Amino acid sequence: MKFYIETWGCQMNDHDSEKLSGLLLREGFEAVSSLDDAELVLLNTCSIREKAVHKVYTELGRLRELKQQRPLIIGVTGCLAQQEKAALFKRAPQIDFVLGTMALQQLPRLVEEALAGRRRVIDTGEYPDNHLFPAEVTQRRSTAKALVTIMEGCNHACTYCVVPNTRGAERSRPMSDILAEVRLMVEQGYREIELLGQNVNSYHGGCSFAELLELVAEVKGVEWIRLTTSHPMNFTRELAQALVTNPKVAPFLHLPIQSGSNAVLRRMLREYTVEQYLERLAYLGEGRQRFALSTDFIVGFPGETDEDFEATMLVLETVQFDTSFSFLYSPRPATPALRLKDDIPATVKLERLTRLQQRQKELTQASNARLVGRELEVRIESHGPTEQGHWMARTGQWQNVHLSAGKDRQLTFGSLARTRITYAGPHFLGAELA
Ligand code: 5AD
Ligand code: SF4
Repeated sequence: MKFYIETWGCQMNDHDSEKLSGLLLREGFEAVSSLDDAELVLLNTCSIREKAVHKVYTELGRLRELKQQRPLIIGVTGCLAQQEKAALFKRAPQIDFVLGTMALQQLPRLVEEALAGRRRVIDTGEYPDNHLFPAEVTQRRSTAKALVTIMEGCNHACTYCVVPNTRGAERSRPMSDILAEVRLMVEQGYREIELLGQNVNSYHGGCSFAELLELVAEVKGVEWIRLTTSHPMNFTRELAQALVTNPKVAPFLHLPIQSGSNAVLRRMLREYTVEQYLERLAYLGEGRQRFALSTDFIVGFPGETDEDFEATMLVLETVQFDTSFSFLYSPRPATPALRLKDDIPATVKLERLTRLQQRQKELTQASNARLVGRELEVRIESHGPTEQGHWMARTGQWQNVHLSAGKDRQLTFGSLARTRITYAGPHFLGAELA
């Protein structure tokens, strides 16, 4: 039987799809690269904002039509599945099964039951061993870096966020288990490891996250370590030191601030003030020069005044983030912020978002421009879209690189290449081999 998985959302979802894919392959299913050839389709969904959910329902509509023309088993997993549970069947009766985010290993059983003709098969249980997924089963898609789960869930309670509901409370994976997976990845040829968790900073699987970084760095063959993602309140001095002193940690830090206004941060229940956030960034010390900084902003949170928004613009200038991701506030089911009046006109929200993004684009452009003429090591990720001799790569600081290497030069995915940066735009760098 042929299957196809569609994935929305974050790296955690990407990695879950790699795990789900591995489970199906182990059962003898065959992966296909197009929905047209699939007999089983699995939608791995995101519900972080309404827009993400909308995309899923649109796709479900398309699948309903397809299912009228030919046999097709439709499964839904991911954060929307965990959030809506059996209510999904009411909204979209074409769905055959629903699999929760904490029950991944139940997939083969659910598929079997659906194939046996059972209707509305569902498991959204919270299996305590979900994060202990067998590493050898995972079917990795990237040839450049290996994603490795170190913890799942979140114990914070930001008032706008669905994640504590959709991913549950924090569970850390034992460090021996993580190190075994990292060693396996190196054996398979990976040189870059991305440690994943909803809040990696609060890792506690037998050591602190700072200690875990050291241990992963000691694994022979590991060149770069990345981490995704973290909460500022768990960003300790010890961790900042570990990041800047360890040469294997890629010099990129994503630390979501969300707003530059203390009043808004309080209503978001972010647990820090802007001053405390800046203090924590300062833990990086001298190392900060070497690190690219990235953050997330939510614009138009209930009650955000013009002054609040100006405070956000001010923090952007103060920190000079190398890059940032910004979103309009989106009211989410079963979150505390629903009780706050969403009182800002849509046009005002959009104006604010546009202004912030425009300014960030200039900052990113300026930060990228400083790299022109420099020699940098980049990791080769894939072929360029068009001409021969063109490659897509990433810097340690996570900038996208378009590399011209000449027609006859063969490069290997996942390997490092020494390059000279020749061009800087707001979205990517141009480079040639040094
Ligand atoms: N509305 C808008 N943006 C949100 N995010 C999380 N929840 C919401 C929401 N309800 C953003 C935050 C977070 C990023 C992953 O998504 O900025 O850091
Ligand atoms: Fe989307 Fe958040 Fe779930 Fe990731 S954890 S899929 S971003 S809702």
